[in-house]
Amino acid sequence: MGKFQMAPDAVSMEKIPQKLLANGVKMPGIGIGTFGSDHAGAQLVADTVREALRLGYRYIDCAACYGNEREVGAVIREALDEGLPREELFIVGKLWNDKHDPAEAAASCRQSIEDLQIGYMDAYLVHWPFPNYHAPGCDGDSRNPDSRPYFQDEFMATWRALEALADEGLIRCLGTSNVTIPKLRMILRDARIKPVLNEMELHPCFQQGELFQFCLDNGVQPIGFCPLGSPDRPERDKTPDDIADMELPVIKRIAAAHGVHPALICLKWAAQRGQVPIPMTTKRKNARTNLLCVTEDPLTPEEMELMRSAERNCRLVKGQVFLWPGAESWLDLWDVDGTIPGWGGYGKA
Ligand SMILES: NC(=O)c1ccc[n+]([C@@H]2O[C@H](COP(=O)([O-])OP(=O)(O)OC[C@H]3O[C@@H](n4cnc5c(N)ncnc54)[C@H](OP(=O)(O)O)[C@@H]3O)[C@@H](O)[C@H]2O)c1
Repeated sequence: MGKFQMAPDAVSMEKIPQKLLANGVKMPGIGIGTFGSDHAGAQLVADTVREALRLGYRYIDCAACYGNEREVGAVIREALDEGLPREELFIVGKLWNDKHDPAEAAASCRQSIEDLQIGYMDAYLVHWPFPNYHAPGCDGDSRNPDSRPYFQDEFMATWRALEALADEGLIRCLGTSNVTIPKLRMILRDARIKPVLNEMELHPCFQQGELFQFCLDNGVQPIGFCPLGSPDRPERDKTPDDIADMELPVIKRIAAAHGVHPALICLKWAAQRGQVPIPMTTKRKNARTNLLCVTEDPLTPEEMELMRSAERNCRLVKGQVFLWPGAESWLDLWDVDGTIPGWGGYGKA
């Protein structure tokens, strides 16, 4: 087996921040997203991952519902065959909403491991806490009549299936995504193998201070999705009130002071605050600068303080397509008054 060839302009790997998770597993402090959404096809995403590995990325954020695990897997296999050690990689997969049934959850995880050609998942997350499915590419007004509110016993049945896979050595870390404090509190209480990761929307205009701190206080490392404010997100996730992080005057000002694009200020802020950002790009140049920026020229304490003022409580991925019959608004998905609507989270009505 040969030696995996890094790019001549690769980012120095010793400088990339690392996180030590509550279960003792180490992960890179920045990753690359693979959600091509409506604008990047599977092969383009996979080609970007190929370049990303040569540039020094080791955390690849994958999900079955992104529809590109086979293409991404072929690229990972290529790198492994060229001599990239498997243990250097940190591959995250996610269970999609239509596979919460315990038997299907286990099968879906196994399938992703096979498609990604990785032998085991470094981390496997439950993508959403609801078993609610929507057709790919649907518009923001579409609803599935079978959708249901969060139900703790059902969620834990799914979780137990994943715990069994972890026991088998197929998953190193379990995690959640798109949960709230009330839900995460119950999951932490009932899990035999606790979540050590929570993937949540985090960008300067949506800092989620309370949930972020709750995660840190409970040994759950936050991963920040849409770290740049996801300018190419699907149309169904755009509303006229949304604020573009990279166009915010405070961020543009700090970017000018550092002589860099505002994207890099969002990422420096994310890494210095303590989340693991997973920016997506289809451009090699952006992939490189995104990785490089967390290894050099940090924001000053004053700039970090200024970044607090970017907070606009601007959630971009509202999740309205997952609402169940009778739910009033997308806010019902996010337990905004501290309680879980619907069945109260515990038992069936
Ligand atoms: N768990 C969940 O429910 C969930 C939800 C959403 C997303 N995610 C994950 O989070 C990842 C990131 O989120 P996202 O893809 O929605 O949005 P994002 O990373 O916030 O934004 C990506 C966009 O920023 C642009 N960009 C990247 N680097 C740039 C740079 N240096 N300068 C200027 N523009 C730059 C990209 O365009 P170019 O291609 O032109 O560079 C792309 O349009 C996803 O890919 C996915 O893996 C998870």
